[in-house]
Amino acid sequence: MPGLFVTFEGGEGSGKSTQVARLAARLRNLGIDPLVTREPGGTPLAEGIRALLLDPDRKPEPLAEAFLMQASRAQLVATVIAPALAQGRVVLCDRYADSTLAYQGAGRGLDAKMLASWNHAATGGITPALTLLFDVVPDLGLARRQGAPGVPNRLDREPADFHDRVRQRFIELAQAEPQRWVVLDASLAADELEARVWEAVSAKLPAAARLGVRRA
Ligand code: TMP
Repeated sequence: MPGLFVTFEGGEGSGKSTQVARLAARLRNLGIDPLVTREPGGTPLAEGIRALLLDPDRKPEPLAEAFLMQASRAQLVATVIAPALAQGRVVLCDRYADSTLAYQGAGRGLDAKMLASWNHAATGGITPALTLLFDVVPDLGLARRQGAPGVPNRLDREPADFHDRVRQRFIELAQAEPQRWVVLDASLAADELEARVWEAVSAKLPAAARLGVRRA
């Protein structure tokens, strides 16, 4: 079976990480063992970079932030994502290159073409077959995040207009490539959202996998 690469994108508190976990559980029930990972992070080196990036006490310059995102990505793609896809696995990644276009591009104001070319270098051109956008108004997402355990990370603390620009850029990216993106209303209840995620993902799975036929 060829690998299937699915990415999850959206603003803060959009509930995407919960949906990654629910989808992974559903796939396991069908006998498919997905590789679940995240960005920034997903390898010991990249998780170290994540800790630096999200530390509220650090203030990287926009370019430094963008390079750190790409360093994490390059490590994750080369050592985890590319090998898993080559083995024919389903890969679920919580954020990927589109987050850089939204956050460092629209949020920080870095040049979109430059970021796209760095994304290409870091990913080796590996592009998701499907990207799910968990679209939610920033006020609701940030309120959810504040209700969640843990300290808000450095990017959660950006002002409202930053989060508005990020959301808008995600919507534009989805509109520009409708064959890759599915936009979901992330204000829906988690069960309803899970059903819509499954609808989108199962359409991309080979028929045998959808029916729950286990691979030998
Ligand atoms: P999250 O995984 O909990 O959503 O947190 C990751 C944070 O990192 C989130 O605020 C978005 C941000 N981020 C970027 O700014 N650029 C990127 O390329 C990626 C992958 C994440």
